[in-house]
Amino acid sequence: MGTDLALIQAAYVVAALLFITSLAGLSKHESARDGNVLGMVGMAIALVATWWLALRGALWGNVVAIVVAMAIGAAIGIWLARRVGMTQMPELIAMLHSFVGAAAVLVGLNTFVDGGRGSDGVHLVEIFLGVFIGAVTFTGSIVAFLKLSARMSSKPLMLPNRHWLNLAALVASTALLVWFVAAASLVPLLLMLVIALAFGWHLVASIGGGDMPVVVSMLNSYSGWAAAAAGFMLGNNLLIVTGALVGSSGAYLSYIMCTAMNRSFVSVIAGGFGSDGTVSNVDVDYGEYRETSASEVAELLTHAGSVVITPGYGMAVAQAQYPVADLTAKLRERGIDVRFGIHPVAGRLPGHMNVLLAEAKVPYDIVLEMDEINDDLAGVDVVLVIGANDTVNPAANDDPTSPIAGMPVIEVWKAGEVIVFKRSMNAGYAGVQNPLFFRDNTAMLFGDAKERVEDIIKAL
Ligand code: TAP
Repeated sequence: MGTDLALIQAAYVVAALLFITSLAGLSKHESARDGNVLGMVGMAIALVATWWLALRGALWGNVVAIVVAMAIGAAIGIWLARRVGMTQMPELIAMLHSFVGAAAVLVGLNTFVDGGRGSDGVHLVEIFLGVFIGAVTFTGSIVAFLKLSARMSSKPLMLPNRHWLNLAALVASTALLVWFVAAASLVPLLLMLVIALAFGWHLVASIGGGDMPVVVSMLNSYSGWAAAAAGFMLGNNLLIVTGALVGSSGAYLSYIMCTAMNRSFVSVIAGGFGSDGTVSNVDVDYGEYRETSASEVAELLTHAGSVVITPGYGMAVAQAQYPVADLTAKLRERGIDVRFGIHPVAGRLPGHMNVLLAEAKVPYDIVLEMDEINDDLAGVDVVLVIGANDTVNPAANDDPTSPIAGMPVIEVWKAGEVIVFKRSMNAGYAGVQNPLFFRDNTAMLFGDAKERVEDIIKAL
């Protein structure tokens, strides 16, 4: 091995170690920022080393092509990152996952056409699996993007015999794999590509709105496996390690999400779990709701001994985290005990609320998980539900026909008074009405969450 090749391999080992320590850092609030920095340093080292590897013995034409491709990619990335709003992050991530899938498909096809025909069986299996996982990730992520950005209905697509369709796609792909390895022909590879694209589309299309969190983390995992498969095809060890890290941490996150939503991991992989797409309680008459004003809420808060804030997607839309952090500080100065209760799928991204609250410098020690806060809620004077809906919906416990039935929720109704901040009586992401709004101890504070919280601060 030449000295430069040895240095490149050493750089890869350092980058892999930095990725592992980055993941360890990301597992806790306090160390998440450092974890991100370690990951970025690792990626910079990996990029430089890979670039160096690509340039060894390359023709000048290739060097220019690589530089131009990197410049175009970087320009699009910078443009997108500057333009995207915080509430569009989930769909941006879904789109980025689709790029990883598309890259794995293109690498697979190119590897086969460019000298792959003569490869041994193991390499052919690598190519086939890489293209399969890449194609499923590609179309699955596009559907997730369309659903998250409301360009496609969040209702599950319920084709007749959908599980049999999925099974048929897997059986046909397995048969095509056998043909591909035996004949080393492009035909079975392309046939499988068409099936895998349809399979990925159907898998995600058949999942209902409330269950999207699991899909997002599952596609994250698939994109990792697609990258690892591309690593095998290109013979790049770092891509294999990085892909496996993303794949396994995404799979673990999917498992955590499944537990949080009380869904079975296997049925998620099979697609079309959760809602059967037929139920919606929007027309049920739950009676009258009570409306309140910012000054009344300010009055209520000044007399409270303990307050819990449960934020949801609406806090992200309103960008209300800064006034919420101000309000928290003001109440704590007055000796009121303020804590946050965070549902694992609040918002549109795993950890969405934690990121917003950290951004607004809310102290970590008062930000609690759903399981930590639920037992205490009966002793709490006031709960402020700020832009949360599905994650505080008692129908998840009480109504077995609800699309969110069985999903654990933050049981805010157990507290003395509940104030719900939202703009209308519209349903949440899962499309179901929330009986919480009609309870005797609930009052609605209508309007943009940021403006209403600022009004309360003024009135205090
Ligand atoms: P949602 O059920 O999405 O409800 C958010 C509420 O915020 C809406 O009812 C909306 O009511 C209100 N809102 C929107 N803009 C507002 C504003 N500017 N000011 C005040 N209120 C505003 O929220 P959630 O409780 O966080 O639940 C999350 C849902 O998303 C779950 O169903 C979950 O499964 C799903 N999901 C989660 C993820 C992840 S990984 N977290 C990913 C995909 C999907 P108005 O329109 O009346 O204002």
